[in-house]
Amino acid sequence: MSEYLKKITIIKPDDWHVHLRDNEILKKVSQYTAKFYKRAIIMPNLNKPITNCLEAITYRHEILNSMESNNKFDPLMICYLTNETSLEELNLGFIKKIFVGAKLYPYSCTTNSKKGIKNVKNIYHILEMMEKIKMPLLIHGEENDTSIDIYDREAKFIENTLEILRKKFPELKIILEHVTTQDAVSYIEEANSPYLAGTITPHHLMFNRNNMFINGIQPYLYCLPILKRKKHQMALRKAIANGSKNFFLGSDTAPHFHRNKINFFGYAGIFNAPCSFLCYVSVFEEMKALKYLQSFCSENGPKFYNMPINKDTITIVKKPYKVMKKIKIGDNIIVPFLSGKKLDWSIEI
Ligand code: NCD
Ligand code: ZN
Repeated sequence: MSEYLKKITIIKPDDWHVHLRDNEILKKVSQYTAKFYKRAIIMPNLNKPITNCLEAITYRHEILNSMESNNKFDPLMICYLTNETSLEELNLGFIKKIFVGAKLYPYSCTTNSKKGIKNVKNIYHILEMMEKIKMPLLIHGEENDTSIDIYDREAKFIENTLEILRKKFPELKIILEHVTTQDAVSYIEEANSPYLAGTITPHHLMFNRNNMFINGIQPYLYCLPILKRKKHQMALRKAIANGSKNFFLGSDTAPHFHRNKINFFGYAGIFNAPCSFLCYVSVFEEMKALKYLQSFCSENGPKFYNMPINKDTITIVKKPYKVMKKIKIGDNIIVPFLSGKKLDWSIEI
């Protein structure tokens, strides 16, 4: 990484956790991820989840068609695991490089997870095969038992489910996605294993649960896993500032229409693609850890997924950048993370 004055050039980053949706939302949002990131793992939790090879191929085309033709963005597809997932389909999809991994959503734990898994024992045969073929397992790591306090569901998942899975499938590559707690950070750091990694979002680095309730309720800070106490936010910041190789960038950009965010039953998810990378830069700068920016954003992820590191670079300059207020989609709008706010860094064009 070359850093001089107020300009930084690093290897172009990848985003290892992105929701692009489909149809008219996809057409409007994909460009933001493609502007900053060379590759992105595309979450399969569409209204009709991506559960087989044909759906993934079709969806990938849709994503590529939503971009300008000169764009070199590479969407990496993920299979949504259900009780019906076929071993043959998953195996074929991985061998043919249609899927780079498969995602475990505990039943009803987040947006579009009603086809998720009620009992992980039901998919042990799938996990066993994934371990054998070295197919990564991406996990939304929260217990879905509503009797467990929502702020404890990640820690409980580690204790009740993840630890058992890791013992049973010791060579299964697991990514604990969007980690939010000190418990998750310590668990991953202590394991210090080539088979376990975590992704961290910009919003969990920048905010804690108090921010959701300042000046009234803030639906645009509502996401799952929910923001936690300040001590957990600080643990995440420390993890990236320590340059731990077991963590990498996964923005969890998750666009929803404004009308759904402010609905009676407001949807969880934060659309941060227009500024996610710039937010990470600010946090690394605040933590005096810019020397680890490149490993977190551009190296640790591909190493874990066993993929080449990008050849392109990206340059950012310390020049104020104003996040757009909203994007219009027909009669609807989507409001981005930090809408209308000023950031310290912008991309050099
Ligand atoms: C995501 C979404 O809207 O698809 N929501 C969120 O709050 N993060 C799903 C997810 O990753 O949990
Ligand atoms: Zn997500």
